[in-house]
Amino acid sequence: MANVTFSGPTLDKNITVYAVAGDNGTLLAVAKANNIAIPFQCQDGECGSCLIKVTHLGQNAPKAIHLTDKEKLTLSVNGKLTKDLLAKTEVEDMPPPYRLACQYIVRDEDILVEFSGEAGVEIDLRR
Ligand code: FES
Repeated sequence: MANVTFSGPTLDKNITVYAVAGDNGTLLAVAKANNIAIPFQCQDGECGSCLIKVTHLGQNAPKAIHLTDKEKLTLSVNGKLTKDLLAKTEVEDMPPPYRLACQYIVRDEDILVEFSGEAGVEIDLRR
């Protein structure tokens, strides 16, 4: 089980839900199942509207490291995945902060998921 905490302007307060890891469910599917309105359009890793910022909670190493090719491309095109971040992901197993909810497979780890509530709106990384 994973605790997934969602934070965004469309929510009155942060909402934590339990997700079953390993069932190939995406973060977007978890959000939809819990009526959390993360923006989305294509649901196929191509439009970038489901952009989220993921923070791994707890002391263990991050597990949800794998990015699909579509996720890499879409994040790169939108300036959210630099060559340095991609290298860290592939060489050091450190996932980048920005992800696509429709491509992110939930693993057995607790995470904070921040979303803007509006497609195309920046999420402030400095917080
Ligand atoms: S909904 Fe289009 S990239 Fe996720």
